Amino acid sequence: MEIIVLKDAEKVASLGAKLVSELLRVRPAAVLGLATGSTQLALYRQLVERYEKNKISFSQASSFNLDEYLGIAADNPQSYRAYMDREFFDRINIDKDNTHLPCCEDGENPVLVGPRYEQMISDAGGIDLQLMGIGVNGHIGFNEPSSSLSSRTRVKTLTQQTYRDNSRLFSKTEFQPKLAITMGIATIMDARKILLLATGENKAEAVSKMVEGPVSAMCPASILQMHELVTVLLDEAAAGLLENREYYDWTYLQNESLKKRFRLIHD
Ligand code: F6R
Repeated sequence: MEIIVLKDAEKVASLGAKLVSELLRVRPAAVLGLATGSTQLALYRQLVERYEKNKISFSQASSFNLDEYLGIAADNPQSYRAYMDREFFDRINIDKDNTHLPCCEDGENPVLVGPRYEQMISDAGGIDLQLMGIGVNGHIGFNEPSSSLSSRTRVKTLTQQTYRDNSRLFSKTEFQPKLAITMGIATIMDARKILLLATGENKAEAVSKMVEGPVSAMCPASILQMHELVTVLLDEAAAGLLENREYYDWTYLQNESLKKRFRLIHD
């Protein structure tokens, strides 16, 4: 894992956007794995800014989101489809037909969505770069603690903690789903590269377990230790409990000077 600690959340978003831009420059038809949540908002804002300044184009790109709630329609403002349209897709030049979420169509058996989504990802040639956040309990996508490390896209029940964490985004009168369809952990691990962003003190414990704890289904993000190409971008607060912090900073400096000398790029 490459662990990069930056001063604040804005710097995390800005390096994240730079890495996505580098990928699109070398691979304009990249397949992006996308996430929702508060952490990603700053990243999407920076990507939109880059697009508006003609520094980046999504015209040939396609995308697959990690997850979608089950039980609310795509046109409900609380759906992840609505979030993605509002915060990102409607502001860039991506072809909406090439943007995908694991949605359950009206009347469809939710159990069938997972295999269909897996097939679509495979038909697209697999995911080049998977963007993601991490839950306070170590979840990735909606793969909650105790999820199978070999899981594929499927229906999952949110933990009470995730349900509570997300309740801040729902008004008292709104229906808040307890079920979601999420890429599985094995689906995520198939991505060629992973870029995980975490900011804020409330993520520090989950980050420390992900990076320095044992690989365990009780911290689903810890499986990323087994992936060949993972970059973790953290602000100071989210990195607060890392024991090996000095080494990560030292490694980052060495890598930066290597890149300058050999013009290596992240692709
Ligand atoms: C959302 C997702 C979740 C979030 C995680 C962190 O698509 O997959 O795993 O990334 O819950 O959410 P925030 O950024 O809101 O703390």
